[in-house]
Amino acid sequence: MTADDIDNLLHEARRFPPPADFSQNAVATAELYEKARSEGGPEFWAGQARDLLHWHKPFTTALDWSNPPFAKWFDDGELNVAYNCLDRHVLAGNGDRVAIHWEGEPGDSKSFTYAELTAEVKKAANLLTALGVEQGDRVAIYLPLIPEAVIAMLAVARLGAVHSVIFGGFSAESIRSRVDDAGAKLVITADGGYRKGKSFPLKPAVDKALEPDADGGTSTVSTVLVVKRTGGDVDWHDGRDLWWDEEIAQVDAEHEAKPFPAENPLFILYTSGTTGKPKGILHSSGGYLTQASFTHKTVFDLKPEEDVYWSTADVGWITGHSYVVYGPLANGATEVIYEGTPDTPHPGRWWEIVEKYKVSILYAAPTAIRTFMKLGRQIPQEFDLSSLRLLGSVGEPINPEAWVWYRDVIGAGTTPIVDTWWQTETGAIMISALPGVTTLKPGSAQVAIPGIAVDVVDERLRSAGPDQGGLLVITQPWPSMLRGIWGDPERFIETYWSKFGPTTYFAGDGARFDKDGDIWLLGRVDDVMNVSGHRLSTAEIESSLVSHPMVAEAAVVGASDETTGQAVVAFVITRASQADAAGADDAAAVLRAHVAAQIGAIARPRQVFIVSELPKTRSGKIMRRLLRDVAEGREIGDTTTLADTQVMTIISQTMR
Ligand code: PRX
Repeated sequence: MTADDIDNLLHEARRFPPPADFSQNAVATAELYEKARSEGGPEFWAGQARDLLHWHKPFTTALDWSNPPFAKWFDDGELNVAYNCLDRHVLAGNGDRVAIHWEGEPGDSKSFTYAELTAEVKKAANLLTALGVEQGDRVAIYLPLIPEAVIAMLAVARLGAVHSVIFGGFSAESIRSRVDDAGAKLVITADGGYRKGKSFPLKPAVDKALEPDADGGTSTVSTVLVVKRTGGDVDWHDGRDLWWDEEIAQVDAEHEAKPFPAENPLFILYTSGTTGKPKGILHSSGGYLTQASFTHKTVFDLKPEEDVYWSTADVGWITGHSYVVYGPLANGATEVIYEGTPDTPHPGRWWEIVEKYKVSILYAAPTAIRTFMKLGRQIPQEFDLSSLRLLGSVGEPINPEAWVWYRDVIGAGTTPIVDTWWQTETGAIMISALPGVTTLKPGSAQVAIPGIAVDVVDERLRSAGPDQGGLLVITQPWPSMLRGIWGDPERFIETYWSKFGPTTYFAGDGARFDKDGDIWLLGRVDDVMNVSGHRLSTAEIESSLVSHPMVAEAAVVGASDETTGQAVVAFVITRASQADAAGADDAAAVLRAHVAAQIGAIARPRQVFIVSELPKTRSGKIMRRLLRDVAEGREIGDTTTLADTQVMTIISQTMR
């Protein structure tokens, strides 16, 4: 964000108080803040955990914070996460309520009631047991957004095992590194899926990922379960590969959910950090489910008997874990999931889905909103969107213009919008308006939710005053906090808990409070980019670029982009002999494709500039700030600390 953007934000004067009828019927009232304050975090969350979840064995202590930053929540309690999302709703007489309306991209669709979804998960759990999956084992899931993705996650959870969902857009290399890091025993994948009007294969990436590596090292995976989605041809490895539908037809339908300790690991989800290697963020069961359920209910004002909720996220991201699978299903919600892209087969597809299922709560990313804004309001206006009563935003800052368009065009000028700030690491929403309580300010995520304590501080942990920028920190432990980085406790401490000590979580975001105490997020303060609400690491893309024989050196920056928030822009010094042969345009195209193949299409640079030098300080550190100036077409900032002050002139000339 530039200084101009921040100035504009601070002059944002529009205010939207909650509609009176919304407030009167709201799930969460202002008393909730008071309750959390008077009880204190641990007691407040203990009350929520008891109210919202079924405990096979009740807990007696809320929080053990005796060894920070390693927290234990509800430690002596026992529960089964899948039972909480499924069986108990059926036992409470809600088995006939629809849990999931699934919409495939080609137009096929299928709905599952809670009774049906429970039955599917029981069978899948029996199948996984038959294949040797036990408590604590890791299972990788690499699927399109089809019902089996949700069923597989819940079946793994039901057994007290740990899932690691790998987004279906990631490459074979990305799968291999995640499978190896977690030591996964089994992979659940599909022959393929549908996106942008075409089928695409998934299984070949898994096959490639599981091949012995160059040193003959084999993967830890012994079984690959394959869901039939597209009917495309697949290579088959006898003794390793099994068809999901054939196997599931043979297992018993009954399965009893056993209790597991509250701190039993639930999942690992890899996310980009400041180094080249993605971090396996580890979440556990009781605390995670408590906060996912609480926030889903209060922030989205969920009335499970009436609402139809739709989060457009893929299960490959944290939003898909907390607000497609665990939060909504723990709350007995009826939800929509959609396999494909928003513009297939026509640019009104999302709005057609809203109309078809009478969606009342929609949760989406600002990038999508900005894309729709560009296409024009006539597209959504062709559909009946009158069922919508609440809109949500997640993943990146939403600019006031997009916020107001979202409310006016999608929300008929009346729906509240909740702008929710959180991270893979926080597990659940941390900062957001409560829609029946908060007077909304477009562009601000506003306030910490009840039970959560955040601050904006300077480098020495002193609270910044109103309108002073600083670093966002979380000052009290919270139930859905990450429990670690898989296999790397040192990196866990170093990344989040070393800057300010072991009891203050450093989020990596810049922020400021305004005079009313509302929080404005100002983007990452580290080398993590946010492209369309997805996190990418500059270091990871740089190391992918230098792995290409053509590249001698590379520097990557996140340049601001009107639609995607940020875009990946790479500056590359090529090895003369190789690149001259290719020509600069061809070399750039080859390198863009190389990154997409190595990491996944989301990491493909928007631009690759072939340059002869990179701006470096005397100590050899690349000055990304200057490259960002170039990439964003701005006047180049202070170059006095460069080892060679001419470099930027040379780079600017090459780019003209
Ligand atoms: O920079 C913040 C941004 O996304 C980062 C977290 O990314 P990830 O772990 O992929 O999770 C995304 C979905 C929760 C944060 O450090 N971010 C997320 N939500 C917002 C946001 N920035 C501004 N406003 C938000 N509402």
